[in-house]
Amino acid sequence: MEIVLVTGGTGHLGRCLVEQLKPAYRVRVLARSPGTAADVDWIRGDLATGAGVAQAMAGVSAVVHAATYSPAARRGYPRPADLWRSPPEVDVDGTRRLLEEAARAGVGHFGYISIVGVDRPRGPYLRMKLTAEELVRESGVPWSILRATQFHWLLDRMLGKASRLPVLPLPTRLPVQPADSADFAGHVVECLRAGPAGRCEDFGGPQVLSLGALVDQWQWARGRPRRVLRLPAPAPLMRAAYTMTAPQGRRGTTTWAEWLDAYGQQ
Ligand SMILES: NC(=O)c1ccc[n+]([C@@H]2O[C@H](COP(=O)([O-])OP(=O)(O)OC[C@H]3O[C@@H](n4cnc5c(N)ncnc54)[C@H](OP(=O)(O)O)[C@@H]3O)[C@@H](O)[C@H]2O)c1
Repeated sequence: MEIVLVTGGTGHLGRCLVEQLKPAYRVRVLARSPGTAADVDWIRGDLATGAGVAQAMAGVSAVVHAATYSPAARRGYPRPADLWRSPPEVDVDGTRRLLEEAARAGVGHFGYISIVGVDRPRGPYLRMKLTAEELVRESGVPWSILRATQFHWLLDRMLGKASRLPVLPLPTRLPVQPADSADFAGHVVECLRAGPAGRCEDFGGPQVLSLGALVDQWQWARGRPRRVLRLPAPAPLMRAAYTMTAPQGRRGTTTWAEWLDAYGQQ
């Protein structure tokens, strides 16, 4: 069986990738805190320092690089500092390290997981993702770049934190296209099978919702009603939000409402 290395295999997308890759590949995961599944080769490592990267790459035919570090996503809300800087150690330095080792090991396919709209980056985290994409393109390792719209878990986490406030001031007309990470993992596995394809079709959820509709559905499902203060959405903000959707791209099937119904608070 061919070996596929997954980075970020303990994360939301990564866990789905590991499960969906298992039937066809031997799956190796580079992780800071390895899991216990016996049918996965766990390599303890850290992309921020390079520990374990060379060991993880030995004998690998393809890599899916899904590791990332966004402090705002971790805590579920941004702080002012996130508007100035996002730590580059995993997303930029770690991607560079992985690509160097992949080139040395003769890896045949490097799949990089990215975000829809990243080529018009707004904010330091997205700029880092774009830099990482550029490293992938220039690496000399055969590559695919797979972009997705916002995952359900992240929106759920952010709304969970926001609902600590008594009132939610939101530009409710903004478009959002939430995607299920398991649906996207299926798309990534398909692309991996098809081989290096460069920039792949963008992937989004089945519906483009207004932020107001998304919040209404969340409040209903989670039973945490808050008053929503409907702010206007100026044209530049609407345009920016549209660039983060992929209405013409590949679509998953799991709706926001179905996902909320199936999963508890993330
Ligand atoms: N979330 C979204 O809405 C969204 C939308 C589109 C695309 N994406 C992209 O999809 C990918 C996966 O995102 P996700 O939402 O699944 O993220 P996630 O749940 O936060 O998972 C991130 C993964 O990266 C690992 N990681 C962090 N720092 C590391 C380090 N120093 N060394 C090794 N591994 C490290 C984490 O491991 P630990 O458990 O050790 O921290 C975790 O397994 C990312 O490329 C992201 O940009 C995300």
